[in-house]
Amino acid sequence: MTQTPSSRSCLAIILAAGEGTRMKSRRPKVLHEVAGRSLLGHALEAVSGAGADKIVVVIGPDRDDVAAAVHEQRPEAQIVVQRERLGTAHAVLAARETLALGFDDIIVAFADTPLVRPQTFTAMRAALANGAAIAALGFEARDPTGYGRLITRDGALEAIVEHKDASDLQRAISLCFAGLMALDGQHALSILKAIGDDNAQGEFYLTEAVAVARARALRTVAHNAAESEVQGINDRVQLSMAEAEFQRRKRLEVMAAGASLTAPETVFFSHDTIIGRDVLIEPHVVFGPRVSIADGAVIHAFSHLEGATVGEGANVGPYARLRPGAKIGANAKVGNFVEVKAADIGEGAKVSHLSYIGDASVGANANIGAGTITCNYDGFFKYRTTIGAGAFVGSNSSLVAPVTIGDGAFVGSGSVVTDDVAPDALAIARGRQTVKGGWAKAFRETAAARKQAAKSD
Ligand code: UD1
Ligand code: MG
Repeated sequence: MTQTPSSRSCLAIILAAGEGTRMKSRRPKVLHEVAGRSLLGHALEAVSGAGADKIVVVIGPDRDDVAAAVHEQRPEAQIVVQRERLGTAHAVLAARETLALGFDDIIVAFADTPLVRPQTFTAMRAALANGAAIAALGFEARDPTGYGRLITRDGALEAIVEHKDASDLQRAISLCFAGLMALDGQHALSILKAIGDDNAQGEFYLTEAVAVARARALRTVAHNAAESEVQGINDRVQLSMAEAEFQRRKRLEVMAAGASLTAPETVFFSHDTIIGRDVLIEPHVVFGPRVSIADGAVIHAFSHLEGATVGEGANVGPYARLRPGAKIGANAKVGNFVEVKAADIGEGAKVSHLSYIGDASVGANANIGAGTITCNYDGFFKYRTTIGAGAFVGSNSSLVAPVTIGDGAFVGSGSVVTDDVAPDALAIARGRQTVKGGWAKAFRETAAARKQAAKSD
C-alpha cells in the first residue's frame, strides 16, 4: 500500500553554514531578504509547509545573528554548529543526533535557495513513501557549469557527479542537481556515515549518498523542478532575480484569488501581503510587510503601504503613504499626498488631500480638510489626537495633540487647535480677519510717487 507523506514523520535539515563572500556584505548571506523575508526564512517556511515535524538548521561557527533569526521565526527549531566546512554531507551529519532519533523522511534544504515550493518537497517525500531511499531534486540548467550532473537511466537516478569530477561526456548533460535531497530515515544515517572524501575537492559530498544507496541495492530517483524555483543565491544579481521570481509568482497568486492588477509588473508585494477579492491595484504600488487589503478596496497608483490594514471598499491614493498601524475603515477615503501612521480612520471618513494623520483616531464619516496636520510630537513624546464621528475639520488646520475634537464638531479652516472641542461645537483658532477699504489703492499711489521722486533725484 502507498503511504501518504502526511502519515510519515519528517525531519528537515537546512544547511546555512555558507560563507557568502560574493554578496560583499557585513550581513550573512542567508539573512539577505526576498520580499521582506530572509532567504533562511523562506527555507524555514517551505519545509514547514511540506510538513516537517522537526527542523534543524546547520550554521557556521560564531553565527549568533543567524541563530537569532532562526529562533525569532521558529522558536522550536534546533540549531547545530558545523565547526569545519568539510562538505554538504558533513554539514548534514552535524545533525546526526537528531537524525538518530528516527524519522521516516529526511529532507535536506539549503538556506540560500529560497524559492523551492512546499509542494516540491512534498513530491520528494511522496517518492520516499513509494519506496525510494533517495529523491534528489533536479532541473534543466541553461548553463550547467559548476553544478552536479544527474546521471539517469529509464527514470532511475544512477549517480550524481560533481562538475569538478565529471568527464567531458558527463559535462554535456544539462540535467543538474539542485542540491536538495530527500532521504528515507531508515537508511539516511548509515548512508551518510559511509560517504568518503575521495574526490576532486576532498570534501564529503552529499551527492555521494546516491552511489552508497545504489551499492546497497536501494532505489534512488530524481524529481525535477524549474530552474527558477531552485536557483541558489550567491551574489546580489541572483538575489534580485529571486526577488523578481517571487514577485512574479505572488502577482499571479493575487490575481488568481480575484484581485485586478492593472500593470502587474509594476506592483511589488511583501511575502505576507494579504489581498481580498475584487480589489483593484493600479500601477506602481509597493507593499511593505504586514499589509492586508479587504474585498473591494481600490489602491490607486503610486501608493506605498506597510503595516497597514485597509477595510472593505476603501479608497487609497493615488500617492498615499500608509505607515505601520494605519487602519483604514470600510469605505473610507485616503487621498493624494496623505500620510497615515498609527491611526484609525473610521468607516466612511475622508482624508482627501495633503494631510498627516499620526497617532490619531478619526471617527466614522468625519471629513478632514486638505492640509490638516496632527502635531503629534514635541521632540520627546508622542501624543494622540481624537476626532469624533461626523466631525468636520477645515482645511489647513493644525491639531496640537493631545487634543480631542468631539463628535459632530466643526473646526474653522486654518485653525491651530490646542484645546479640546466639545461635540457639535465650532472652534476657530486663527487671527480674526480685518478689511481696510481702499487701503491697497492708497498704498500703491503713495509707493509709486515715492519711487518716481527717487528716480528724478
Ligand atoms: C552543491 C551540490 C551540487 C549542486 C549544487 C547546487 C554537493 C557536493 N554538491 O554544490 O551537486 O549542483 O549544490 O547549488 O552537495 N554547506 C554547508 N557546509 C559545508 C558545505 C556546504 O553548510 O561544509 C552549505 C552551503 O552553505 C550551501 C549548501 O550547503 O547552502 C551548498 O554548498 P555549496 O558549497 O554551495 O555547494 P555547491 O558546490 O554549490
Ligand atoms: Mg552553491
